[in-house]
Amino acid sequence: MNILVVGGGGREHAIIKALKKNSDVKTVYCLPGNGGIQGDAECYPVGAKNIPMIVHFAKTHRIDYAVVAQDDPLALGCVDALASVGVPAFGPDKNAARIEASKVFAKELMKKYGIPTARYEAFTESEKALAYVETCPVPTVVKADGLALGKGVTVCMTREEARRAVIAAMEDRAFGDAGSSIVIEEYLEGPEVSVLSFTDGETLVPMISSMDHKRAHDGDEGPNTGGMGTVAPNPYYTPEIAAECMERIFLPTVRAMAAEGCPFKGCLYFGLMLTKDGPKVIEYNCRFGDPETQVVLPLLKSDLLTVMRAVTEGRLAETPVEFSDKSAACVIIASKGYPVKYESGFKIELPAPEEGREIYVAGAEAREDGLYSKGGRVLGVTAVAGSLKEAVREAYAYAEKVKFENGFMRRDIGARALRLLEE
Ligand code: AMP
Ligand code: GLY
Repeated sequence: MNILVVGGGGREHAIIKALKKNSDVKTVYCLPGNGGIQGDAECYPVGAKNIPMIVHFAKTHRIDYAVVAQDDPLALGCVDALASVGVPAFGPDKNAARIEASKVFAKELMKKYGIPTARYEAFTESEKALAYVETCPVPTVVKADGLALGKGVTVCMTREEARRAVIAAMEDRAFGDAGSSIVIEEYLEGPEVSVLSFTDGETLVPMISSMDHKRAHDGDEGPNTGGMGTVAPNPYYTPEIAAECMERIFLPTVRAMAAEGCPFKGCLYFGLMLTKDGPKVIEYNCRFGDPETQVVLPLLKSDLLTVMRAVTEGRLAETPVEFSDKSAACVIIASKGYPVKYESGFKIELPAPEEGREIYVAGAEAREDGLYSKGGRVLGVTAVAGSLKEAVREAYAYAEKVKFENGFMRRDIGARALRLLEE
């Protein structure tokens, strides 16, 4: 089979490595991929948002199955466009991708179907939003409606910060069109859990839970990033909480999407906060999380391609999805200064492969004499082991063997999870 993966970061690298375990897979193409993915897939410089070129590529390269991994092409209808030329693809169609692409859509869905989430108000005019922040409870959270590279959310501890966030999004257009409409929501507190799930629109199978580390620096200091590391499973996510989430959040979401006439097929990601009033939805994503995928897929025992095709064909109920009982940790090595200001073009030397360890390349280009950094998040170093403690230790031990002088990593990935396990 010829497989096409659309996207080009660490998540896509992890998906490709998992797909290649299936012996029916002959060639994997990745658009645009990156210099590190190139070792595992044939990469071509077609942007992930260039839907007509992606469709053209799929036709001319006789693609049997595609995986659209990134948010923008999903929101632009890449899955619909591929399906219209007879190429089945993993991921939601344009209508269903709104669950991530529009916060207003997601919040209205949750309100209508009684799915627990933060209380909110939606605004399309800055005067009304500014008037609201004068009286709403603080802290509060200001969110751009559309896709904003994970930067559209501002947690505001004071009214002044909230005013500034509204002005930045709606008047200064810091997130472009994504911020012309905003949501202002109740501030929630509690540990965060990411749960990725497979769903074919009717059946939903949660994957192993994970914990992201969003802030740039140790001790959860510094600005929000795309994610600086992950561990799986997430020890806060007990079997009781998992059962509650299934009943009150996951299945109601799948049924709500079907009832709205936009059944969701693909990977539905639940960003949850475990508050003292129970689990609540912080965000939905219409795709695999990055870097959650880099710890979740190495623990998947079932064949990824088989599960994905079952999702696309509506056969998930009869398809086993099994996870290992081991643990995984992923440490991101980013360019110094990320996410604010950083430079690219530094040489990277990767260590020799080792059993139970993987390096997923998120941002690099291949030159004649090797790999060079390109972008903010550069590498994801994952280890799988019998316990979370060992997985964290081994991920750091392997990361230490990477030579990349402009890189930095958080030193406390997994620390909060390990503290809970030791309590
Ligand atoms: P998002 O991009 O929606 O995942 O938001 C980024 C981060 O902002 C989340 O991981 C949370 O840490 C934080 N956040 C988002 N919404 C809320 C909320 N209602 N209350 C507290 N923190 C939030
Ligand atoms: N790690 C969070 C995300 O993929 O949005």
